[in-house]
Amino acid sequence: CGIVGFIGKHPVLNVIVQALKSVEYRGYDSSGIALVNQGHLVRYRSVGTLDQLVKILPTNLSSTLGIGHTRWATHGAPEERNAHPQVSRGVSVVHNGIIENFSELKSQLLKQGYTFESETDTEVVAHFIHLHYSKCKNIPELFSKILHDLEGSFALAILLEDHSDHIFIARKGVSPLTVGRGPQGVSIGSDALSLVGIAEEICYIEDKTWGKLSLDKIEIFDTCQTPQPLHFILHPLGKDALGRGEFAHYMLKEMYEQPEIVLKEGSRHLDIPEELTHALHITLIGCGSAFYAAWGGKYYLEHLAHRKATLELASEFHYRNPIVQEGVTIAVSQSGETADTLKAIQYMEQKGQYTIGMVNVPYSSIARQVNYEILTNAGPEIGVASTKAFTAQLLCLLKISISLMKDSARKEKILNGLKQLPLDMQKIFFKVSQLQDIAQHLVHAKGIIFLGRGISYPVALEGALKMSELSYIFGQGFAAGELKHGPLALIDATTPVIVLAPMDQFFEKTVSNIYEVCAREGKVFIVTDEAGASQLAGVPVQDIFVYPSPATWELHPFLSALSLQLIAYYTALHKGCSIDQPRNLAKSVTVE
Ligand code: G6P
Repeated sequence: CGIVGFIGKHPVLNVIVQALKSVEYRGYDSSGIALVNQGHLVRYRSVGTLDQLVKILPTNLSSTLGIGHTRWATHGAPEERNAHPQVSRGVSVVHNGIIENFSELKSQLLKQGYTFESETDTEVVAHFIHLHYSKCKNIPELFSKILHDLEGSFALAILLEDHSDHIFIARKGVSPLTVGRGPQGVSIGSDALSLVGIAEEICYIEDKTWGKLSLDKIEIFDTCQTPQPLHFILHPLGKDALGRGEFAHYMLKEMYEQPEIVLKEGSRHLDIPEELTHALHITLIGCGSAFYAAWGGKYYLEHLAHRKATLELASEFHYRNPIVQEGVTIAVSQSGETADTLKAIQYMEQKGQYTIGMVNVPYSSIARQVNYEILTNAGPEIGVASTKAFTAQLLCLLKISISLMKDSARKEKILNGLKQLPLDMQKIFFKVSQLQDIAQHLVHAKGIIFLGRGISYPVALEGALKMSELSYIFGQGFAAGELKHGPLALIDATTPVIVLAPMDQFFEKTVSNIYEVCAREGKVFIVTDEAGASQLAGVPVQDIFVYPSPATWELHPFLSALSLQLIAYYTALHKGCSIDQPRNLAKSVTVE
């Protein structure tokens, strides 16, 4: 979910809408705004994207203070009654996170006579605030109670009718919150992106603190009511960070940015900490696309740097109380905010591991949590389905592995290959019409199988994820060698199979898998390089997409992942799906 708020000298409604637009990638199933209007709280909410909310907003409100929210449903379906702000008499609340003891609190509040119109844990917070504020009428006491009694992880922005010149905030656990200031006024947002063009300086709010914000004063306190120092930094992003230029979608723009990112980042020197240089065991952690990039990194670290690399899915990791040996953790995350990944890092730190955060967003929660930060420098990624961030993560992991490797001739070969890579990636865009044709063949499929061996296996998994996220066609990736151990039963004339068959050490074996699928009437689409294609003449497949042959096997994923991203994009486009905001998803998931 995304939280915003603004206190200005002039009417603030437009600024709040602008901030909500920037934070919409965090959730877009409903949205809402609460304002102080002539001393009273007013609220507007709507199901659907922000455009739906904008349609019902009045144009003549003179309010100079308000809060807003875009929702990614956790408790309760995306319905207007569940949209934020949630209210109690004289209280309005927007919330990101989960209140874990909400049912217990709800029962207590029901006994006190409160009634509930939503299924959200946020309405519990609103009534909780009303109950305790009306008892004590003391703000510090109220926030001690909030931070003490509400369990789980949350970021809150609160309006109280009694304090109509203030926005109150509170943060506990892994839900991020940022305060900004600039010539227009004082702002709050879930992250730096939400305050682009609104705040000149931003300050990240720490765990277990609360704040009282007015036009001329920003005060933050801890649970003992000790005032906290405010560390403002210049906003790291310029106004142009949010545009999509002439591209139809952010995702398309972000895919086209990839060659340039590889060009810039491929040659940039990467500093790595001593701890990593000497680590014999490296644990790689992530979720979603970041996890698949980490998976690619495991291959690089093992093959090139000869380090033991263990891969961990952050959402599962700390719950199983894993045994942690000496070593270094690299947590990979585009947003730097993913709650599962943050929890896994905290677990590793408790176990004494040195942690490295590989993030795309500077100053994000993960960046601030870890011992050492590596920036992937892909620039803001707005499309919910990750593309350029995945590529930048993979590149960073390759660069780390290169800097740890001993074989200098091989190192030289990969580095030279990296120089050619941006141009080869660009050549894929020249052949985009073939990818559009392939996508056209996939539109009516109920499911699509993706196969790959070696490092092409995590790329196949990422391709399947992209397809599922964007086109809602069930995509499943398998290690090509596993085909015979079960998935072959799925093969028939209706289930397309996309096979990554680069010319690498596994090529012959992958070709055997292609024949196995063809023999069972499977419809095969091959993605390969020129060298691979030259060996595939006469194989009875539907289509072969050919990208330029890279210098070494390590570089295939950059070309094959881009090809799969484009296939998923065009499949979704042909189906008329919402490209940048696929249903039910959010880009930055700050709940476990
Ligand atoms: C969400 C997004 C995915 C993303 C994953 C990890 O589920 O929808 O696209 O890969 O989070 O995000 P991170 O910001 O940690 O890379």
